[in-house]
Amino acid sequence: MPDHFLGVQQASISFGKGEARVPALRSVSLSFERGTLALVMGPSGSGKTTLLSMLGCLLSPDEGTVFVDGVTVNQLTEPEKTAIRQKKISFVFQAFRLFHSLTALDNVAVGFEIRDPDKPQRMEMARDLLLQFGLGDKLHQEPNELSPGEKQRVAIARALAGNPPILLADEPTASLDVKAGRNICEILRNQVSEHGRTVVVVSHDPRWREFADRTITLCDGQVDQEVKNS
Ligand SMILES: Nc1ncnc2c1ncn2[C@@H]1O[C@H](COP(=O)(O)OP(=O)(O)OP(=O)(O)O)[C@@H](O)[C@H]1O
Ligand SMILES: [Mg+2]
Repeated sequence: MPDHFLGVQQASISFGKGEARVPALRSVSLSFERGTLALVMGPSGSGKTTLLSMLGCLLSPDEGTVFVDGVTVNQLTEPEKTAIRQKKISFVFQAFRLFHSLTALDNVAVGFEIRDPDKPQRMEMARDLLLQFGLGDKLHQEPNELSPGEKQRVAIARALAGNPPILLADEPTASLDVKAGRNICEILRNQVSEHGRTVVVVSHDPRWREFADRTITLCDGQVDQEVKNS
């Protein structure tokens, strides 16, 4: 592996007990280079979310290794894994997962509070991020007053609080129309090209291909195909 930045090595995991035991990933080895956007595709149940959860230190493999920023994480204690997650990894989800009773600005400010509690100017930083994403006139709206595309932009702004080097996105455009979806593709691509972040996107949506450096297809818990995009 050329760059042990982020990845899994011979990772396997099963869920359930006895006869109901289902292998979700079977000896998967994948390495994600710093400053790249990888797209992970594959049918429902092929193990995409399981892979993302492992890369995000939310799930440990039964066998094999997970590495984040060059560190093998599956031998670490839970508090150590939490610390790595807080410093290095953010998640973006299909369902946005915003705090419903907070304004867009406060949603992002909470991201700063969690990840960067020492920074006194978190409101300013939150505002800057929302302005960058074209939400300057939505700062004080609550999530139910925003369109799906706007909600996802707020969620991405919140994910970027604290400047994490790694963004893991599970179906980030699945709830969005074509225009809003493309906008999210552009925003995440920009996080790679302009800010050097490493982004892994799980999606069924083929329009991501144009924005990804590499497309990995999982099938039945294994890597079926890996294509470098030109
Ligand atoms: N917490 C769990 N408990 C039991 N089985 C699970 C759990 N998580 C995943 N699985 C099983 O592991 C396999 C892989 O699931 P995973 O959620 O990773 O698939 P996916 O590719 O993300 O699918 P989708 O496209 O539907 O989101 C499936 O057979 C699923 O039923
Ligand atoms: Mg999934």
